[in-house]
Amino acid sequence: MKKLLVIGTLVAGLGMGSLVAAEAATAPVLMKPKYTYDAKTIIAGAKLFAMHCMVCHSVQFMRYEFLTQDLGMSKADVHKYIMLPTGAGYKANMISAMPVNMASKWFGRPPPDLSQMERYKSQDWIYTYLLSFYQDSKRPSGWNNHVFPNVAMPDVLAPIGGTWSKDGKLLKAGDESQQKFRKQVTDIVAFLRFVSDPSVVQRHEFGPWVLGLFALFTIFAYLLKKAYWKDVK
Ligand code: HEC
Repeated sequence: MKKLLVIGTLVAGLGMGSLVAAEAATAPVLMKPKYTYDAKTIIAGAKLFAMHCMVCHSVQFMRYEFLTQDLGMSKADVHKYIMLPTGAGYKANMISAMPVNMASKWFGRPPPDLSQMERYKSQDWIYTYLLSFYQDSKRPSGWNNHVFPNVAMPDVLAPIGGTWSKDGKLLKAGDESQQKFRKQVTDIVAFLRFVSDPSVVQRHEFGPWVLGLFALFTIFAYLLKKAYWKDVK
């Protein structure tokens, strides 16, 4: 009986294993964005985000003034490139002008706030998601997505990145080359990464100083130890 139980468990385990494997095989592999994570990339992403995403999405934990304080953008540039679409105050949070209840009505689901999305889903996921839209006449929006099946968001980047079929054929070219388009998507991802963790740029600046201070302290501690133990020996 015991033997039977063990065999049963083994068979069930194997079955589960192949199920998991089958699921993994059908899920699209996430792509990794390649970029230098610095203020230049993040600012480029912020401009693209304001142009293409803020119509629907907010990043409510981000304030316009942080773009100058943390990234070194000029106030004039923040006004010109980032704030124009919403016309909000400089100290305000980056909230979309579209009321959430209206958006829910139009798209069937509300566009979520993207402040913490990078932490929640990872930058690889967002990058792959933005590059995985395809045309689908069965969906109310006319769009579908390989990593987010039956998504309510339309492919807002199609005019620049092109319109694709489910099996990866280019149906209508966009305004940008694929290389430039991928670079722009990468910039948006860098901005969303920054929004999820805005102190990261300052931390990278402070990091070497803090390590230097530790090194200096180690030398002092060593000299102090030597001075104390001189008399003990
Ligand atoms: C026309 C409105 C609209 C625009 C513009 C738009 N989105 Fe969306 N987005 C949505 C909606 C609606 C959803 C919710 C999808 C769902 O739940 O099915 C969504 C979902 C998302 C998600 C997935 C969130 C999750 O729950 O996993 C991400 C990431 C995202 N959008 C990023 C972007 C980025 C980046 C841009 C700019 C390039 C953008 N969106 C532009 C409407 C929009």
